[in-house]
Amino acid sequence: MKRISLTQFLVEQQREHGRIPGELRLLVEVVARACKRIAIAVNKGALGDVLGSTEQSNVQGEVVKKLDLIANEVLIEANEWGGHLAAMASEEMDSIHVVPNRYPQGEYLLLFDPLDGSSNIDVNVSIGTIFSVLRKVGHARGVSEEDFLQPGRQQAAAGYCVYGPQTTLVLTLGNGVAAFTLDRETGSWLLTQGGAAIPEDTREFSINMSNQRHWAPPVQRYIAECLAGRDGPRGKDFNMRWVASMVADVHRILSRGGIFMYPWDAREPDKPGKLRLMYEANPMAFIVEQAGGMATDGRQRILDIVPTRLHQRVAVVLGSRNEVQRVNGLHRDGAGG
Ligand code: AHG
Ligand code: MN
Ligand code: MN
Repeated sequence: MKRISLTQFLVEQQREHGRIPGELRLLVEVVARACKRIAIAVNKGALGDVLGSTEQSNVQGEVVKKLDLIANEVLIEANEWGGHLAAMASEEMDSIHVVPNRYPQGEYLLLFDPLDGSSNIDVNVSIGTIFSVLRKVGHARGVSEEDFLQPGRQQAAAGYCVYGPQTTLVLTLGNGVAAFTLDRETGSWLLTQGGAAIPEDTREFSINMSNQRHWAPPVQRYIAECLAGRDGPRGKDFNMRWVASMVADVHRILSRGGIFMYPWDAREPDKPGKLRLMYEANPMAFIVEQAGGMATDGRQRILDIVPTRLHQRVAVVLGSRNEVQRVNGLHRDGAGG
């Protein structure tokens, strides 16, 4: 079977929909190439001395793993010189990384979670890279953190790569969702799924159950109703999955439906949630919406949140439309309290 490559896909999208300026195409290809390099490092594991932790901790206070740093460096190095970017931001950098003067500056801004699912690196479970692309608005010279603080609905592109049994790149340019699988023999990304669609209904939820006692009443109520199964108000049995790598959990939902939640909880009451808005929730919300699903913080659409800080956190409820709506409804009604 003749499959089309990522390059061909991007060229055809440009011809058919005229929505991919040359710089954006270059950006996507460069990120895809960087993901390929990260995949190679991930696969080497102990043989490449890439497992384990560094002595650093990041702006979130989390211990930085060796692969978090490697992936961050690969993405920066790959994206610095092409002339397509003005600046980058990452989970692993306190502040933005402006493209150095020796390179031309482009109009795009790239945000990434270089390595998502860090707790799974050393145990050989699926991990990934998440990225979000914004356009620098306004004509002011230079670039600052403020340029990044745009609501997610303004993303020009978003994607993730899963380093799992297969290496898969999932991409949206605001015109549906396409998935590409890395062919290791040829080194090409080949289109393996166009027009991904998340089923509206599901019987599968994804949440870290060990935090149950810390959740707010609407989340308690939603999960209790799922757990009650066929004999409860939902009238059907539910299954549970929690990989603890958002990329892997979202990828499963993209493939067969489901609901993923990382809600606010009382362990850190001043934070809205664990996940980061700009390089985890926004790109995933864009992809999920483009596949017909929904993504909210339990109340409002994630893509409408106007960020005030680069590393701000957010509660996340995403996936199959009818389930997300149910969770939103429980929040709206103040249910469970
Ligand atoms: P990261 O490795 O980039 O810090 O992200 C980990 C996130 C997310 O991928 C996952 O869904 C969640 O944290 C897992 O959290 P728990 O350890 O609380 O299950
Ligand atoms: Mn992450
Ligand atoms: Mn990470």
